[in-house]
Amino acid sequence: MGLATNLVGPADPEVQLTINLGELPTPAPRERKTTRNPDLHSPLRYPGGKRQLVPFFVDLLKLNGRTPLPLFIEPFTGGAAVSLHLLAADLVDQVVLADLDPLVYAFWHQACYQTEQLVDDIAAADVTLEEWHRLRANPGRTLREKAYACLFLNRTSYSGILQGRAGPIGGQKQQSAYKIDCRFYKDEIIYRLRQIGQLASDNRIAAVRRTGVQTTVKWVEEQFNEVGRLYYFDPPFWEKGERLYRKAFGRREHEQLASLLTGLEAPWVLSYDYHDEIIDLYRESAQNEGHEASDLVPAGGPRLHKTDLLYCNRHKGRGATELIITNLPHLPQEHVSGA
Ligand SMILES: C[S@@+](CC[C@H](N)C(=O)[O-])C[C@H]1O[C@@H](n2cnc3c(N)ncnc32)[C@H](O)[C@@H]1O
Repeated sequence: MGLATNLVGPADPEVQLTINLGELPTPAPRERKTTRNPDLHSPLRYPGGKRQLVPFFVDLLKLNGRTPLPLFIEPFTGGAAVSLHLLAADLVDQVVLADLDPLVYAFWHQACYQTEQLVDDIAAADVTLEEWHRLRANPGRTLREKAYACLFLNRTSYSGILQGRAGPIGGQKQQSAYKIDCRFYKDEIIYRLRQIGQLASDNRIAAVRRTGVQTTVKWVEEQFNEVGRLYYFDPPFWEKGERLYRKAFGRREHEQLASLLTGLEAPWVLSYDYHDEIIDLYRESAQNEGHEASDLVPAGGPRLHKTDLLYCNRHKGRGATELIITNLPHLPQEHVSGA
């Protein structure tokens, strides 16, 4: 039985969520012959990376369906922070990773299917400003070259930003206390890559795709429509996305995404940087799809919960607000405050 059938239930009222930043939950023991670690961080430092939302997802999955979930889909993969944890903790069986950025796609493809090649390239990397300029000017043509360029530039550029305007860590003159190689922990990166390679050889990566969100959803719905599944959509930021990602979203793309999601019956979760316009957008879109617009809860159709997920941005030392919209019926009460 798929997750989709387990997710039918009474709608909860709109609630506010606060994320707990405690230890990640210990995964239930399962029989798998592997030396894998039950937790896994992404090798990519990603702007907007959602590692801090992991405890929320763990509880959301447990509350709304049986774990392990057969299939988790990230159509905006980036650093795949949530997918990697759920896989490593055996809370999902398989994931689909898709991203429109050719460098990000190349990275995931090689990390999964040509792991040792990428490991060799990272081990041999000359982590210098010259190499940064070489790769920035020309990330290469093959998947191998692009994967290496993606990982190198991600770990040596300011905030992990691959977008063209981001400079090298330590600046062009390298006069800062933090030099270009200060985030390039080769041993740790290689360890994470090998964990990903192990997951791929255990058949835990259902697909890695270089496709836009619309194509990804269409493909998954054709290929896996009998499979219990949950989509996690983490699109480029509403505001300033074009400064962070090589593939960003304009107003039109945000509207198209709203239309796609309000028409999608399979379970999904969407996270955004908080803006009131997004709520208006989803309310209007739900209305266009024939759902009641007053509370985003349609009769007989997918239920849309408007929730505020507050989580702490450790680097800046202050809270950040994340908007979560989902058609799942239940929200984990342990993360809820101010209902
Ligand atoms: C906010 S980031 C995702 C971060 C990710 N959740 C993480 O934890 O690291 C958004 C990603 O969407 C990708 N992207 C932008 N436009 C896209 C599109 N139309 N279809 C698929 N991916 C897209 C960007 O390349 C970027 O990697």
